[in-house]
Amino acid sequence: MRLDGRIAVVTGGTRGLGRAITEAYLAEGASVVAAARNPYDIKELADEYGDRLLYQPVDVTHERSVQELMDAAVAAYGGIDILVNNAGVSRDGKIARLSVADWNTTLATNLTGVFLCTRAAIGPMTARDRAEGQSGHIINVSSCVAGRAAAGAAAYSASKAAVEMFTRTSAVELAPRGIRVNCLSPGYIDEGMGKELAANERAWEAYRGRLLAGRLGRPEEVGAAAVFLASDDGSYVNGSVVEVNGGLNWAA
Ligand SMILES: NC(=O)c1ccc[n+]([C@@H]2O[C@H](COP(=O)([O-])OP(=O)(O)OC[C@H]3O[C@@H](n4cnc5c(N)ncnc54)[C@H](OP(=O)(O)O)[C@@H]3O)[C@@H](O)[C@H]2O)c1
Repeated sequence: MRLDGRIAVVTGGTRGLGRAITEAYLAEGASVVAAARNPYDIKELADEYGDRLLYQPVDVTHERSVQELMDAAVAAYGGIDILVNNAGVSRDGKIARLSVADWNTTLATNLTGVFLCTRAAIGPMTARDRAEGQSGHIINVSSCVAGRAAAGAAAYSASKAAVEMFTRTSAVELAPRGIRVNCLSPGYIDEGMGKELAANERAWEAYRGRLLAGRLGRPEEVGAAAVFLASDDGSYVNGSVVEVNGGLNWAA
């Protein structure tokens, strides 16, 4: 139980990779607030984990909604130890045809959402009475395209590259408050956005040869990395981008 007694907020924690992270944290003993605009079927997990799981509606692009999320976590569990900024959207489109609306939605969700949630969590994370040597943790979720150019991914990859830089700045600013900040960069995972890609045979064929693992990642492999980063096992990892991508070789 590497997260016994810890309190985690996971944005986009209802489905896809966020749900895998929620499940991994619950299995390691944490109490989890899974937050997104829709509950999806997250409430099914409540049967297994009872009052260690709370669904809280949030739109990470709205300041007040984000504040309500952090307030709900504090009201339910007494504080926040771990924040996973996982909520994200992908609006593919080549620049020549990319709409301003799609650009703005992508940046507002993937980047401004990370900023708003981070800012709102700092107070409750700092105030939390933790055991000697234990820190608060923020994990931002970027993507393998944050540092690799892919046609049609301009808005998405720009937002994720910015998240990686925001991670480094956050780590510097929040270290004096006892908060570590890292970034988890998934490759193509057999869930959520990655599953959509794999369903497109042509796109999947183009990527398969680039993966040293030769397969899509499993959502629980992302969950395991998120447990490592948030637990004391990752206590000396700070301001880093941890890639979980099966050895993605873009040059192949
Ligand atoms: N799956 C992959 O292969 C892969 C690879 C690299 C990076 N990633 C990253 O991993 C993260 C999760 O992706 P996924 O594949 O699991 O996607 P997904 O299945 O589409 O799930 C996205 C989650 O984010 C929530 N969300 C979206 N907009 C939101 C908003 N404005 N406010 C609050 N919640 C919002 C969604 O719930 P609602 O729609 O109900 O709000 C959902 O829970 C994303 O940041 C993505 O960029 C995924």
